[in-house]
Amino acid sequence: QLVNGYKLMEYAKENQIVLPAFNTTNYELTQGIIQGIQKAKLGGYIAISSSNLELSSPRMIADMVKFAMKDAEVPVALHLDHGKSFQDVKDCIDAGFTSIMVDASHLPFEQNIAEVNKIVNYCHFFNIPVEAELGAIGGKEETELGEEGKTDPSDVKEFIEKTNCDLLAVSVGNVHGLDIQPNLDFELLEEIHNISSVPLVLHGGSGIPYDQVRRTRENNLLKVNYGSDLRNTFIRTFGKSFETNHKIFDVKSLSKKSIQNISNKVIEISKEVNCL
Ligand code: G3H
Ligand code: ZN
Repeated sequence: QLVNGYKLMEYAKENQIVLPAFNTTNYELTQGIIQGIQKAKLGGYIAISSSNLELSSPRMIADMVKFAMKDAEVPVALHLDHGKSFQDVKDCIDAGFTSIMVDASHLPFEQNIAEVNKIVNYCHFFNIPVEAELGAIGGKEETELGEEGKTDPSDVKEFIEKTNCDLLAVSVGNVHGLDIQPNLDFELLEEIHNISSVPLVLHGGSGIPYDQVRRTRENNLLKVNYGSDLRNTFIRTFGKSFETNHKIFDVKSLSKKSIQNISNKVIEISKEVNCL
């Protein structure tokens, strides 16, 4: 059974763990993520971003996740990651998602607040928590943002009070993707943590050394997101087999192998971020 996002947040606090959030795109990633979370026995999020929904739909993803969760024992929430529109949020809640992120961080401060608050009011009516982003996280689509993209601590209090968000995604030198080396600013994270009344979220987990991720636990970090590492694991499984045999056509075996490899990566990440 999928759990409500608030329940998962409580579970993390009770068990003093950081919840890993894993991004899916397709069937194999979904199966590998759910199997890995179950084997690691720690709980976590399976997430899909608005941009990855281009290939499927909230309902398809929710159905696949529920199918993969058949024999599940540890709690998993289904999360919309980097939600881009009110329509996506609405469609995901209708499909059974249990946690939402709205990403309006590209908008000016006041508009970011207004957009997040509108979505928070909607989600809270359904008792679903909302993660919002303050500051711009570099990598992938964004160019290298440097200092000016980082979360400004002096905005944090007002942002949380006016939006009423439940989780805050911060930009503290973390980057999306595998191209740019992340460089976490622990002083800034500490400063934000001292101001923030809600737990923090670290995006761009792939590529951050595990000991650095573990260090962020001191700063009320509740959730850390992983995407590129898993997508890379999936692609590598097929690429390696094709390199050795160009006549390969057995999709089923390779899909199974990729699920196994993704699951192993999920177990590694879940345990490493929680010092197990
Ligand atoms: O929202 C998704 C994550 O921030 C993933 O980042 O691909 O660098 O692991 P990543
Ligand atoms: Zn992200």
